[in-house]
Amino acid sequence: MIIGIPKEIKTHEYRVGIVPSGVIELVKRGHQVLVEEDAGKGSGIGNGEYEEAGGRISDSETIFNESDMLIKVKEPQRSELHLLREDQILYTYLHLAPDPELTKALVERKIIGIAYETIQLADGSLPLLVPMSEVAGRMSVQVGARCLEKEYGGYGVLLGGVPGVERATVTIIGGGVVGINAAKIAVGMGANVIILDTNLKRLAYIDDIFGTSVITLMSNHINIKESIRRADLVIGALLIPGSKTPRVITKEMLLLMKEGSVIVDVSVDQGGCIETTTPTTHDDPTFIVNGVVHYCVANMPGAVPRTSTFALTNSTMPYAYMLADSGVTRDILQNEALIKGINVYKGKVTYKSVAEELNYDYYPFQDVIK
Ligand SMILES: NC(=O)c1ccc[n+]([C@@H]2O[C@H](COP(=O)([O-])OP(=O)(O)OC[C@H]3O[C@@H](n4cnc5c(N)ncnc54)[C@H](O)[C@@H]3O)[C@@H](O)[C@H]2O)c1
Repeated sequence: MIIGIPKEIKTHEYRVGIVPSGVIELVKRGHQVLVEEDAGKGSGIGNGEYEEAGGRISDSETIFNESDMLIKVKEPQRSELHLLREDQILYTYLHLAPDPELTKALVERKIIGIAYETIQLADGSLPLLVPMSEVAGRMSVQVGARCLEKEYGGYGVLLGGVPGVERATVTIIGGGVVGINAAKIAVGMGANVIILDTNLKRLAYIDDIFGTSVITLMSNHINIKESIRRADLVIGALLIPGSKTPRVITKEMLLLMKEGSVIVDVSVDQGGCIETTTPTTHDDPTFIVNGVVHYCVANMPGAVPRTSTFALTNSTMPYAYMLADSGVTRDILQNEALIKGINVYKGKVTYKSVAEELNYDYYPFQDVIK
């Protein structure tokens, strides 16, 4: 199979769909890999590294034209749509449900669209979303600590304190992948850490692994109020899959917080868990409401593209190898997780919630594959 890696052209997207080790593996399996010139530049990977791995550096048009499968990071941009070829496999984050225009284009062009975000394991987990939550979770404390500095609007406190001076308190709402990764960094930096979650089993797990270095609390109105009052840094890390995030902190509740304290609302991409959250960008990441600094960047991993590219491709490549070896044929029926990733297949919508959301007929992939 010929596999093409276009350079990402979405604004501020510096990640790339493959790293040299992925090229080596694909070439070893008998495939050809075309990488667009400078595709890896934003992630610190040079053209020569891809060539050494056995890839061929090429231009965008050749890649779209010749590839049987395109591996990307973001959905194709409007200027790329006309380059897609019938029956081409497109393996990337797609987020089709809120994007009727892109869905229409992929259906009309009879693309086989496999979305990272809907590949799902039997236990319901989404393995290709995990690495970005890990990055965002770890980053949340790093950016929060920076925002607590006077220069950035904070009241000038160091998370770990120093001997003879109190440590700061980090309150994390939601103890999932983002929350637990935030906790690791906050504990490592010497802060007092409180984690709230509605899932008692999860709290028990967190208690087991962190022991006395974190306080776990059931997430309810009273505990949230009390723990944001104590906090120097609040991290919004909760998720109710498939739903808008509940706004567990109201504007009025911000008055309980110290002036110059900080909220990093990682859950902003699902609407945010603070009433005052509105999405911001890396160019202008913060704003202040009621004296509280808000950081609400919806694509936090974009700031650390090198780490994010390697983290993402660690998770995406095992599926890419399967797709390259067998194509989208009956052979992949054995892989339930991968089937869940197939959103559109040769003119048909094969992912139920995309079909329902955008008024297409829904065709289970098992029924359309010949
Ligand atoms: N801004 C970014 O760049 C970025 C990057 C990655 C992930 N995210 C977002 O971060 C959020 C968290 O992602 P995740 O991967 O950790 O999800 P996850 O499913 O692993 O964890 C979510 C946790 O929230 C808990 N929860 C649900 N309702 C709660 C409530 N009312 N109070 C407290 N906890 C509650 C759940 O029990 C679960 O443990 C999501 O909205 C995700 O989209 C944002």
